[in-house]
Amino acid sequence: MSSALDIDGLVKDAEASISAARTTEDIRQVATEVGGKRSPLAEAHRALGALDPGARKELGRLLYEARTTIDALVERRRTEIRFAEMQATMESDRIDLSEFIPGTVKSSPTRGHLHLVSQTRDALEDVFVGMGFEVAEGPDIETDWFNFGALNIPPAHPARGMWDTFYLNLGAPESTLLRTHTSPVQIHLMEAAVVNGDLPIHAVMPGRCYRRDTPDARHLPVFHQIEGLVVDKGITFADLAGTIEVFTAAYFGSDIHSRLRPAYFPFTEPSAEFEVTCTICHGEGCRTCSQTGWIELGGCGMVDPAVFDAVGIDPDQWTGFAFGFGIDRCAQMRHQIADMRALNENDIRFLRQF
Ligand code: PHE
Repeated sequence: MSSALDIDGLVKDAEASISAARTTEDIRQVATEVGGKRSPLAEAHRALGALDPGARKELGRLLYEARTTIDALVERRRTEIRFAEMQATMESDRIDLSEFIPGTVKSSPTRGHLHLVSQTRDALEDVFVGMGFEVAEGPDIETDWFNFGALNIPPAHPARGMWDTFYLNLGAPESTLLRTHTSPVQIHLMEAAVVNGDLPIHAVMPGRCYRRDTPDARHLPVFHQIEGLVVDKGITFADLAGTIEVFTAAYFGSDIHSRLRPAYFPFTEPSAEFEVTCTICHGEGCRTCSQTGWIELGGCGMVDPAVFDAVGIDPDQWTGFAFGFGIDRCAQMRHQIADMRALNENDIRFLRQF
């Protein structure tokens, strides 16, 4: 009986077994051992009946306390074990979401680089900066005035058909649009120059343009142009032709030639189309140049006096030329990319070559 009454010892033993439990299964067994029907605690309880009421009450209270302590210890250990097991599961189920880097562990990660179109824009800017031009930019979203009106293309003018326009659902119908060319930046520059009194202008303006065109080997509905504008005194068509010539040789190399063909643009007079030798077939004729041997890069001409009027520049005092051509086209010609759509496909094997 005396050993059954060693309640402190009983609790100590239980405590030792409880803290030795390592798994959910362990703690389940230990809980039965220390608190179940066959546990020393339950036995001591059963023995209570044989005691006289005074001793029974005293021992009953002590046993009740012991059970409360043991139950709490079991519960605490159970929680600890559950938590540890959960952590172990999470650790083993963990997924490595960091990017797979091709090559061996030792090799350094592959570095990205600018897209070919961005590289081309930079290279074109460099050529023009070297020729004394400044670089300016304008917004992609324009009003009808900047994209058409000020460029001598009044509403409903048949020349609007030259640019299949994406209109924005903003303001009056067809009043806001995604610019179809970079020529509206000419208007921004000339208006600012008039306000600030800082003519002459020698600037190039690269940027993204949008047209409702079906993509094909030479066209993308979202593409890039670089615009050029010179407004100065005594500027002639020869300055324009010379600038185009110098640019072509500087950018494409001396084996690539340019030619100007009479054309019509509402904002230049006279106007010309600017073409370069097709670098895919070297002038022989191929699918990319539609068998002509030439690739159209863009348009150019002498700034029309009507445009000077629109921005408030005196056409009797100032003359100028403007040009605008495709940056993507330049990339295509310089790197002999048969199909321009490759620029948008984001195939890393294609992009990595440049
Ligand atoms: N903006 C014209 C186009 O995109 C090109 C151009 C620019 C023509 C400047 C003449 C002068 O078709």
